[in-house]
Amino acid sequence: SQRLQVCHTLAPFSLSPGQLQQVRDRMRVDLERGLRKGTHTGTPVKMLPSFVCTLPSGNEWGKYLALDLGGTNFRVMVVKIRSGLRRSVRIYNKIYAIPLEIMQGTGEELFDHIVQCIADFLDYMGMKNTRLPLGFTFSFPCRQTGIDKGALVSWTKGFKATDCEGHDVVDMLREAIKRKNEFDLDIVAVVNDTVGTMMTCAYEDPKCEIGLIAGTGSNVCYMEEMRNIKCMEGNEGRMCVNTEWGGFGDDGALEDICTKFDQEVDEGSLNMGKQRFEKMTSGMYLGEIVRQILIDLTSRGLLFRGRITERLKTPGIFETRFLSQIESDRLALLQVRAILQQLGLDSTCDDSIIVKEVCGVVSRRAAQLCGAGLAAIVDKIRENRGLDHLDITVGVDGTLYKLHPHFSTILKETVKALAPLCDVTFILSEDGSGKGAALITAVACSLCRGV
Ligand code: BG6
Ligand code: GLC
Repeated sequence: SQRLQVCHTLAPFSLSPGQLQQVRDRMRVDLERGLRKGTHTGTPVKMLPSFVCTLPSGNEWGKYLALDLGGTNFRVMVVKIRSGLRRSVRIYNKIYAIPLEIMQGTGEELFDHIVQCIADFLDYMGMKNTRLPLGFTFSFPCRQTGIDKGALVSWTKGFKATDCEGHDVVDMLREAIKRKNEFDLDIVAVVNDTVGTMMTCAYEDPKCEIGLIAGTGSNVCYMEEMRNIKCMEGNEGRMCVNTEWGGFGDDGALEDICTKFDQEVDEGSLNMGKQRFEKMTSGMYLGEIVRQILIDLTSRGLLFRGRITERLKTPGIFETRFLSQIESDRLALLQVRAILQQLGLDSTCDDSIIVKEVCGVVSRRAAQLCGAGLAAIVDKIRENRGLDHLDITVGVDGTLYKLHPHFSTILKETVKALAPLCDVTFILSEDGSGKGAALITAVACSLCRGV
């Protein structure tokens, strides 16, 4: 019957507790492999040193410019930090669009556009002549050799600008500022969004030693012991490591849970064969998995009266916000139909039940996989510190985590089940990662000033 066929199609998305444990254990192995490898050899989980060694103390102060590139929005902001009794952080920001032609054009065009947006922002703030230190949140894998030096390893998500991979991101920004020749900036720090998010949250809660992004992309950073980071000299203290766990599975480690729909999404992506874990867990791809399943069900006459419309063939139609709406429990099926209608998909009542089910299995698996990954991280931190029990906080950001009605609940349940010796608290980053980037910049500046 129709019901049975739908169930059969969706069955591979239900992971057993045993399978999730395996994912956790394999992630753990790959975290270790990434830490052991030298700087220039790639492992699926890259484990990139961030050169951030301390959490905020509360004594940071000053006025900084921050950029935030790589999430849904590109933002330019001024961050004013006060320390002491009047400790506070104030942010003034503006959001700019990055057109697709620029995301996938030349590197020069991309960085010229970024500098154009900074120019507009400085004009808007009346600050063209003040030379502020700048913290650059750049949400892509960077092989850093200092707090202000980092070569882009490879683009991820929707970016594919030419002549950037292998080049230093700070140099590219500096050169674009020179080309424009209108203002000067001191670029002090380049920061991954996970690291910025961890720092933003650690400013409020010193137990926050992990940063998680569940948004367009998926990634985690955490405070690792220096002695375990083999590509860095020195054995004392800790450093925040950007795991780039999105690349987990790029050597086939997830083959047994990968479905034919995951395969299709990978084949239709800008970076085939790369970021396989990210493609099963993040906002940019979940809608695509859903779309592939719907196409399959429709082609077998189980949905939409067997008619595959042009709309359904269009990549990217199921954005995170639509998935989140469709899965909202408060929504009647009639409203689900209305959303599908908005997407140009004519559905019956039965269709909308099936679509909701499809969205449900795909997002549940994503949250469980993230949870399994996070369980590996917290348990590693616990073992690093030789503890029987670990209390730790994770700072989180990202549209999937923030908008989806069930993602965060399932994620938390999974971590609890798979890391029973850890008590994990989740706090939301309210100000994005720009605040964290400014705090990092503040510390870097005070070190230069010798304060
Ligand atoms: C924002 C952070 O709030 O969240 C960004 O400031 C980050 O740095 C983003 O990239 C992630 O969420 P999304 O869903 O926009 O990719
Ligand atoms: C991608 C990027 C990573 C970033 C994540 C979340 O996985 O490679 O650097 O942290 O997306 O934005």
